[in-house]
Amino acid sequence: MSDAASRKVLLTGASGVLGRFLAAELARRYPGLVLTDILPFPDKVLEGARFVQADLADAGRIAEITEGVDTIIHFGGVANEKSFETILPANIVGTVNVFEAARTNRARVIFASSNHTIGFHERDRKLGIADRVKPDGFYGVSKLFGENVGSFYFDKFGVESVHLRIGSALRKPTETRHLSTWLSYPDLLRMVVASIEAEKTGYALLWGVSANTRSWWGEDDAARLGYRAEDNAEVFADKVTADPDDPIARRFQGGSFTSQGYGRAPEGKS
Ligand SMILES: NC(=O)c1ccc[n+]([C@@H]2O[C@H](COP(=O)([O-])OP(=O)(O)OC[C@H]3O[C@@H](n4cnc5c(N)ncnc54)[C@H](O)[C@@H]3O)[C@@H](O)[C@H]2O)c1
Repeated sequence: MSDAASRKVLLTGASGVLGRFLAAELARRYPGLVLTDILPFPDKVLEGARFVQADLADAGRIAEITEGVDTIIHFGGVANEKSFETILPANIVGTVNVFEAARTNRARVIFASSNHTIGFHERDRKLGIADRVKPDGFYGVSKLFGENVGSFYFDKFGVESVHLRIGSALRKPTETRHLSTWLSYPDLLRMVVASIEAEKTGYALLWGVSANTRSWWGEDDAARLGYRAEDNAEVFADKVTADPDDPIARRFQGGSFTSQGYGRAPEGKS
């Protein structure tokens, strides 16, 4: 990879909650930053950056706007549990379009994956990246699709990618679950910058979580990318509210995503 300041970086999902935060921070670090989203960018585009509106599902358009980039930060897509028909174009077709663009441009992809890839693990388990995946919906399945496309594109074409299994990226934790899943904004930024600037990443999988005392997630590829989380949700422990009174959501790591439409009989009855 080239020197940090000469990196040609493109950020998808720029008009979203995390995208807007990253857009401002990355524009300062990477001159020529390209921002893209299907929705207009709601903020002032910082000097040196530019915004282009595009649908991730439009392969031709994605090929056009990614020409010449060497790093694609892929945060765009449906970010919640929705019907498969809603998720398919943005998260499945769109992610293939992004990896194809990376292959053509020999670029690295940094992909916003999610804790909903492992949501059906019980809360008393501490996971490493080698543990079995347990998606808790079509959204989680679509994020696993992205991780797997990354694995395939590395093995077959040498396209590097870093997959961030983001927990709860919030300014502050607000409920008990977040004491385990919180990712602070400064840690998110450090993680993205480390992923951009690492000399080599190969295929890497990281837990997108701060150094929380109660974290459910441990071993990953962070150290070999030179990244270490610094914040800890525990400092907010006396300010958060109890999780919603929902036994399924309280049992599993994916929280409320696991109980949406839950159709199994109570334990011991099936
Ligand atoms: N916020 C979190 O705590 C969290 C946790 C886990 C994973 N993530 C992932 O991080 C990323 C950003 O999350 P967020 O909270 O900012 O979500 P968000 O919904 O605010 O942002 C997603 C953006 O993607 C854009 N988008 C959707 N479909 C598109 C399409 N077809 N073409 C182009 N753009 C499209 C949306 O317009 C939106 O601006 C998402 O991929 C999400 O799945 C976030």
